[in-house]
Amino acid sequence: MLFEPFSFAGFTLKNRIVRSATYEKRADEDGFVTDSLIELYETLARGGSGLIITGNALVHHTGRCLPQMLSIHSDIYIPGLRKLTEAVHRLDSLIIAQLNHGGRQCPPLLLGGQKPLAPSEVHDPATRATPKAMTNTEIWDIIDAFGEAARRAQLSGFDAVQIHAAHGYLISSFLSPHTNRRDDYWGGDEERRFHFIEEVYKAVREAVGEHYPVFIKINCDDLLPGGITLEESVKAVSRLQAMGLDAVEISGGMRESQVKTIRPDILAPEDEAYFRNAGKLFRQTLGIPVILTGGMRSKTVMEDVLAKGQADLIGMSRPLIREPALPALLKEGKEKADCISCNKCIRFSRLSYVRCKQIKHTL
Ligand SMILES: Cc1cc2nc3c(=O)[nH]c(=O)nc-3n(C[C@H](O)[C@H](O)[C@H](O)COP(=O)(O)O)c2cc1C
Repeated sequence: MLFEPFSFAGFTLKNRIVRSATYEKRADEDGFVTDSLIELYETLARGGSGLIITGNALVHHTGRCLPQMLSIHSDIYIPGLRKLTEAVHRLDSLIIAQLNHGGRQCPPLLLGGQKPLAPSEVHDPATRATPKAMTNTEIWDIIDAFGEAARRAQLSGFDAVQIHAAHGYLISSFLSPHTNRRDDYWGGDEERRFHFIEEVYKAVREAVGEHYPVFIKINCDDLLPGGITLEESVKAVSRLQAMGLDAVEISGGMRESQVKTIRPDILAPEDEAYFRNAGKLFRQTLGIPVILTGGMRSKTVMEDVLAKGQADLIGMSRPLIREPALPALLKEGKEKADCISCNKCIRFSRLSYVRCKQIKHTL
């Protein structure tokens, strides 16, 4: 099944493999597309992924969570983004922009010393900062920014957008009872915690029109005490599906829950596909395609996940950092990714760009 085409939301993927959003540290200091970023995406496109999702792109200057992350928060980025989508399209591949606001997980250093924005003032051990609880005006500004970013993505030629609602960033932090302690329209119970993603989705849909595909990436579980649970996450996505959402990607954890999102040492088949049980429930409950990401390494496990109805599409990040042509290699007969999940790729502060430290890179 892995190499069968898959059609939904108006496009056809040549196979079931998705390059999951992966921050590259290859934009310039101001977030503009560089030749190095284009070169990486051309390599990924030649490597055979059915769908390529960009590293998280910044929708508002208050949401910068990583240095040299891609930006989409102003029209000045459109010409560079257009060059990127044209390069991928020339190679007959599809490219989706992941839209993000870093929220509570933005290091103050990247915000010019300002406090990160969040639903509530819940200290983040990962950044060692306590964020500022957002005002109503700030909340609506960011909702508008998501809509504007989606409009720019569409204008720049992206085939779809993915709203980043996972991993503890701003949207995820509104959904999570751990980080959202408000008692107003935006928090207080499950219904009210849903309002922020609901309004972001509406703004994005309004900006791109009814036929443009909109995806989200969401936590099936925050993997820490008091976080969002599988049941609540499935309910939120069901509601977005009723509003017209086209696909969902499942992940889990936030920076505070440490390495549970990007798990190290996935060496045996039983360590792989670590959110597969959640995938099954999402798939049984929803009608839209489910992308399952986290620990996909061997072809037999990927086929098994598809055959057991735990996903429609297989998402991968680290294996494609090491081998951007992994989909083509799997198709030719390779059985397993070379990635050993050492997680050295996430310790990028001293690297000029994100790369696999196990091999000598020419790219
Ligand atoms: C270097 C690196 C950068 C990442 N950047 C993003 C990102 O920008 N957006 C996102 O949703 N997930 C990001 N992730 C998480 C991956 O998309 C994925 O959910 C996670 O790594 C588990 O999948 P894997 O086992 O295939 O690596 C990143 C992961 C790594 C290793």
